[in-house]
Amino acid sequence: MATDIDSRTHVEGKHNVKASLKTSFMGIELASRLKTSFMGIELASPVIAGSCPRNIVFESIRQLESAGIGAIVLPSILQEQLVYQLQQKSKLNAGMEPNEYSLQLDNYNGGPVEYLKTITTIKADSSIPLIASIHGASIGPWLDFARKIQDSGADGLELNWQIGRCDPNESSDRIEARMLEWVACIRKKLTIPIAFKMNSRFTNPASVAMRLQSEGVNGLVLFAHRPHWDVDLNKMHWTIGWELSPVNSFARTLQGLIETNSSGLHTSVAASGGIRTGVDMIKAMICGAEVGMVVSELYRQGPDAIQDIIAGIQRFLDQKNFDSIEEFMNSRPQFGDRSGYSMRSEIIDPMTSTLDYHDPTPVTRQISGDSFGHPSH
Ligand SMILES: Cc1cc2nc3c(=O)[nH]c(=O)nc-3n(C[C@H](O)[C@H](O)[C@H](O)COP(=O)(O)O)c2cc1C
Repeated sequence: MATDIDSRTHVEGKHNVKASLKTSFMGIELASRLKTSFMGIELASPVIAGSCPRNIVFESIRQLESAGIGAIVLPSILQEQLVYQLQQKSKLNAGMEPNEYSLQLDNYNGGPVEYLKTITTIKADSSIPLIASIHGASIGPWLDFARKIQDSGADGLELNWQIGRCDPNESSDRIEARMLEWVACIRKKLTIPIAFKMNSRFTNPASVAMRLQSEGVNGLVLFAHRPHWDVDLNKMHWTIGWELSPVNSFARTLQGLIETNSSGLHTSVAASGGIRTGVDMIKAMICGAEVGMVVSELYRQGPDAIQDIIAGIQRFLDQKNFDSIEEFMNSRPQFGDRSGYSMRSEIIDPMTSTLDYHDPTPVTRQISGDSFGHPSH
């Protein structure tokens, strides 16, 4: 149910965000009221524009900055692009004609050379913290590009490790070991903080998070986006498409945050997946996130989405009398030691406590009119 905190039509909140960032509340500068940090990087607000191609468009970055964004994550540069670039440079492949597939990869997000130039230009033109992103799956010379990203001025690097479908003969232990080796290899090359964008489907995400922390990861992004699978009945084959997050997908992110957090986890945590309102951001922070990343809502609403989310956060702080995000964060529940806790009760209690079950997508029955849906007069 919408509360007045997340109301999108809250005119006062919407139009006051930019102004209120510059004024004061109970003697506290509002600019500092929303200040927080992620992986040790200082942010003006806990709202981050998550990795997507919008974030290499300069006009879009300018709008996000004036909407009060805390940081932006560039779209990912892909392992395939970097391997292709190296192949082209090598003498062995000097005469190689690029095929159509490679050309498409070469130009994706501007290509590797443009990617580095973009980092340099954004850092020269704006004060927003900038996190670059690498998407890959295996260790090789292409990973030296991480160092070039750092040298171009990025404040941090997000790692998106995706292997696609797995070989049925490889155990999940071995696959996770490969993932950790990949992270360790990149960690050794860099001094800037690195965040790992985790898949949401580990059997024990808390254990994976702890092992990533041991490899030197400074932040976890919970979770990586997955493509949408369907089946084309005419072709009698499955299809894979890239879509925005469905509007009701945030509950999965909350569940994952709680499942992943544990008392021994000290890395920064960013929530990612289904954040649409200031209330969503606050809920994510109560469940252990320091910041939240927003993408789909940016595609739906543009930079206004960020203003709305920030206004919602401020309304929550006002209503609960918190002077600052910092004060709110310090009053969040702690994630205690889970060893003595019966985690099955989190499933069993809601299942058995009522006989009336909430239907989040009720079907409206046709009670009047004809079978074509025309209302009766
Ligand atoms: C159009 C689009 C492009 C994206 N590109 C990337 C990308 O290059 N790298 C990446 O790690 N995630 C990418 N993502 C995933 C987002 O960063 C984010 O994890 C996901 O959309 C979930 O957040 P949301 O619910 O706020 O959209 C993309 C998402 C969208 C919708």
